Amino acid sequence: MLVLGLESSAHTFGAGISDGGKILANEKAMYKIGATGMIPAEVAETHVENAEGVISAALEKAGILPSDLEGICYTAGPGMGPCLQVAQIAARALASKLKIRIVGVNHCVAHAEITREMGRLSDPIMLYVSGGNSQILALSERPFRHYSVIGETFDIGVGNMLDNFARAANLFPAWGSSVEKASAGGRYLELPYTVKGMDFSFTGLLTRATELTGKVPVNDLSYSVQETAFSELCEATERAILLKGKKEIGVCGGVAQNSRLRQMLQSMASEQGIRFGFAPNEYNADNGGMIAFAGERLLSEGISWKLGECRISQRYRVDSAYVPGG
Ligand code: FE2
Repeated sequence: MLVLGLESSAHTFGAGISDGGKILANEKAMYKIGATGMIPAEVAETHVENAEGVISAALEKAGILPSDLEGICYTAGPGMGPCLQVAQIAARALASKLKIRIVGVNHCVAHAEITREMGRLSDPIMLYVSGGNSQILALSERPFRHYSVIGETFDIGVGNMLDNFARAANLFPAWGSSVEKASAGGRYLELPYTVKGMDFSFTGLLTRATELTGKVPVNDLSYSVQETAFSELCEATERAILLKGKKEIGVCGGVAQNSRLRQMLQSMASEQGIRFGFAPNEYNADNGGMIAFAGERLLSEGISWKLGECRISQRYRVDSAYVPGG
């Protein structure tokens, strides 16, 4: 089924096209984050400017016309309200004009499902790490098929922590990838480490690392921030693996692009004798392809929303969203 998926929950406006689970196009345009971080209304305005061009580029890449589309889906949440509205309004307008079915997709489910597919995983413990979220997920069949949250951050997402640290340390652009680059050759300094069971926290680590900026070499500090945060994630994930008796581990979301985190998870998986899988970076960053992929599965099971009932929810929890394909 030819399906267009639109994503606009944060800094990226993405348009992807899926057909039978195969991604035919995955185009995007990103808001450039400056010193002030993301101002939702400004980001949404940028998405409005980019939407038509990104959708047209995706249709062209897939070699199809709008009239060929059989379904449309959009990120219904979680995310920033004004940003979420952009994909929702564009999707509703297209569905109305083309008279095709429409459905909202949970952003976290889309990250996890594209990784389960591309990482060739069946029933993994999934570490979902992004700016706004950090959770340990596992598929659960009752009372309906969904990802249950078996561990999560007490405060901020690990990506948000890395971005904030990058800003405090004057790393540019203020992204996690700049922290990864700056960590080269760094030595370990002890920083606050908080894991309670399968939950973890990053604000104490961020506060102390911010206090130390300018007082210790930036590569030592960047290295130590990464080692501390990723060790927290690995410890909690390993505990989840042992508790649930799973044989696979996956990592998804924007921070899954970090090669040091993947290296640490791979080493833990090898020690436990289990499989580790992840998607190519293009699908870990926010993208429309994963929304098209997850939405096509919903539409294929006959699940769609009436135009007047299409909604967004800034706090759309992953464990409240149905996962198709059971
Ligand atoms: Fe995301």
